[in-house]
Amino acid sequence: MTARPLIYAANWKMNLGPQDAAAFLDRFLELTAPQPDRSLWFFPPAVSLATVAHAVRPRPDILVGAQNVHWEPKGAFTGEISIPMAQEAGAEVVLIGHSERRHLFGETDDQVARKTAAVLKAGLRPLVCVGETLAEREGGRTEQVILRQLEPLLDKVASADWGRLVVAYEPVWAIGTGKNATPDDAAQVHELIRFALGRRGVSGRLPILYGGSVSAKNVLALLARPELDGVLVGGASLDPDGWAELVGLEAAP
Ligand code: 13P
Repeated sequence: MTARPLIYAANWKMNLGPQDAAAFLDRFLELTAPQPDRSLWFFPPAVSLATVAHAVRPRPDILVGAQNVHWEPKGAFTGEISIPMAQEAGAEVVLIGHSERRHLFGETDDQVARKTAAVLKAGLRPLVCVGETLAEREGGRTEQVILRQLEPLLDKVASADWGRLVVAYEPVWAIGTGKNATPDDAAQVHELIRFALGRRGVSGRLPILYGGSVSAKNVLALLARPELDGVLVGGASLDPDGWAELVGLEAAP
């Protein structure tokens, strides 16, 4: 029996400029080989995209993505990057609606949906993040928040396009805190996402990743749950040796 395909996504956030990114990849590629049914996605900062895309060219198991894009193809949007630009620099996937974009930079559910639709239209794959804050979880509003975040996506993305989408469940309280969701908590929200999509006619199994304080210590317990199709990792993806170890871990038979 073959294992289900897993995605290991590294979100470098505002770390690793071109020089550090090149050094990271030199070391990481030396330490790893492609593994069946496992793909590795890197989201470097925009200035390092081309460097990373160039370095991973010999590795078809590795995809490179932008951390954010604007939905317009060009124009007077100081500080933004467009989808065609990200594509030209080598991006094949785009991270959209990360909680840091939503909470620190005021990105709305509607903007997330517009970006997602534009990324799909350009032929790239969006990795869309959803997740509740601690106050929302403690107030019993997790389900309501996740459904609210999904709703504009369901309105703007045609059902035929959902096959190219990936969702990441990243509870805000678990990001960078060292306090990961338990495998049960994560699996429950992944089920909710699948149920909500299925109810609106999205068919097929869309990959759903978990993110929030994933480490080499907890990744196997999380991925032991069949509801999880991979992980989206911040801090633990910044060191090439540690990241190579994490993506190579195998559950005991
Ligand atoms: P940490 O793995 O550092 O908690 O970050 C998670 C994250 O935000 C990935 O997008």
